[in-house]
Amino acid sequence: MAIRIFSGVQPTGNLHLGNYLGAIRNFVRLQQDGNECLYCMVDMHAITQWQDPKELTEATRMVAAGFIAAGIDPKRSIIFNQSRVAAHAELAWIFNCVARLGWLNRMTQFKEKAGKQRENASVGLYDYPVLMAADILVYKATHVPVGEDQKQHLELTRDIAQKFNNDFGVDFFPITEPIIQGEATRVMSLRDGTKKMSKSDPSEFSRINLTDGPDQIADKIRRAKTDPLPLPETLTDLEARPEADNLVGIYAALSDQTREQVLTEYSGKLFSEFKGALTDLAVGRLGPIGSEMQRLVAEPAYIDAALENGAERAAAMAAPIIREAKRIVGFLGA
Ligand code: TYM
Repeated sequence: MAIRIFSGVQPTGNLHLGNYLGAIRNFVRLQQDGNECLYCMVDMHAITQWQDPKELTEATRMVAAGFIAAGIDPKRSIIFNQSRVAAHAELAWIFNCVARLGWLNRMTQFKEKAGKQRENASVGLYDYPVLMAADILVYKATHVPVGEDQKQHLELTRDIAQKFNNDFGVDFFPITEPIIQGEATRVMSLRDGTKKMSKSDPSEFSRINLTDGPDQIADKIRRAKTDPLPLPETLTDLEARPEADNLVGIYAALSDQTREQVLTEYSGKLFSEFKGALTDLAVGRLGPIGSEMQRLVAEPAYIDAALENGAERAAAMAAPIIREAKRIVGFLGA
């Protein structure tokens, strides 16, 4: 069976190191391996929580710039924004009638995002994972590269595909495989090693943004929380120290090594020294991406044309699949 890759990133706030190491870097690798890839700015997911309209437009361009600057080639891969391809919303409706309330009630990300304001959360936020399943399956994508936090949503995607196939007695939607790969599938906050690095953390010092300059990167790493002990020798000792584990994981991912290899080099060294090396590495790796992003967003015409072209190609790919899904359901005229 041919491999088809789909993944999405929400155009909200800044892209950060977690998005890069957990997802975008793998998007680039999968493209370089010669796969057919679709990478989407999921603006319909973004509005499940309030977004200022102007900022949403700008953030969509900024994420596209991040994709391109990181190495995604808009000619080889399809990059586009979700709201332009109506088939996502159409299939999401069909899936709303396949997915069960009980399944959505188990989604931990909804609970985290809605928090104590559950009654006041949008219906869209609750339905978020169903739209995700539609994003993936409207292209019959077989593999989905994501960070660890999306694992549960991808299990739901598999459940929806399976139930659709069973309900209608067809073998139509593929059972998608997640690709959760690398040493940094869950990058943690620089201020608290037990919390995920996230766009919504109020502290700027909790995350490194892809557009941060060398001074900001250095400052954030210098202030990153650590403990007074030197770096340990073994992975078991490292795992007991969340902040140390996080920084070693970031170093490993940025230098294409394993945590063990990093410990072989740095065990017994103090964090003051390790942080210096991590800063040099991060500035070297992220600096060129950040400046290319700034250059690209200064010329929105290029990005806008790439997204328009991507949306046309995506829509053409989705058209026969949504038509067949409607026909399977029994919609007249499909
Ligand atoms: P978003 O925008 O929240 O995250 C985009 C990608 O970044 C990964 N990620 C992380 N990886 C490691 N460490 C972190 N701290 C970290 N924070 C974020 C996420 O796992 C994700 O891969 N729901 C998706 C968007 C989406 C989607 C899809 C993905 C919508 N439809 C279909 C795949 C397929 C999301 O989390 O976006």
